[in-house]
Amino acid sequence: VKNLDSLRFREIDPTHYAEAYAFNLLHELSFREASGDDAPDSESERVKNTANILIKLTNGERKYYCLAVFEGENMIAIHFLNRQELDRQPACHIHGLFVHPEYRGIGIATRLKAMGEEWARAMGCAFMDSHVRTTNERMLAINEKLGYTIARYNLRKSL
Ligand SMILES: CC(C)(COP(=O)(O)OP(=O)(O)OC[C@H]1O[C@@H](n2cnc3c(N)ncnc32)[C@H](O)[C@@H]1OP(=O)(O)O)[C@@H](O)C(=O)NCCC(=O)NCCS
Repeated sequence: VKNLDSLRFREIDPTHYAEAYAFNLLHELSFREASGDDAPDSESERVKNTANILIKLTNGERKYYCLAVFEGENMIAIHFLNRQELDRQPACHIHGLFVHPEYRGIGIATRLKAMGEEWARAMGCAFMDSHVRTTNERMLAINEKLGYTIARYNLRKSL
């Protein structure tokens, strides 16, 4: 049984390329699992996306927060946040949240979201903002438990 106490929760180190690369990979998996998209990124896309993350973390703006969870050397979960203005207010948008399947159900996402909120509050954000697919019942349940309410609907029609 995996235990929260044996894990380390911290921001990734932008001087450590392998950490940024692993962070991007887990972010890609989050997007693919949540959207049901089986197509992996190519190696060149991964390198490009990793470089983009590193630029965001080192440009001095402090607009991005890349939290990761480690068991020993292995990164097993990520949470990716971004400060931005929404509805004319300072807000914190959630880009990604992913927990390795073997580590689910023990409270990792809940703790990551608490840490993300703490950062957003410290940075002066007025609210958190997140997009979740209607089919992602687990993520909807977590958000509801943490006090999120529906702010808008994203309407689609097949053509
Ligand atoms: C969604 C996800 C991040 C949850 O991570 P997690 O660390 O397992 O979540 P937690 O252990 O903190 O669980 C929090 C809540 O989720 C719900 N939950 C967790 N496991 C569940 C399960 N197997 N079935 C149903 N609900 C579950 C419960 O509401 C739980 O609250 P509780 O502990 O008070 O019962 C993880 O499943 C994941 O990475 N999914 C794929 C990527 C994804 O969908 N990301 C979000 C895109 S918006």
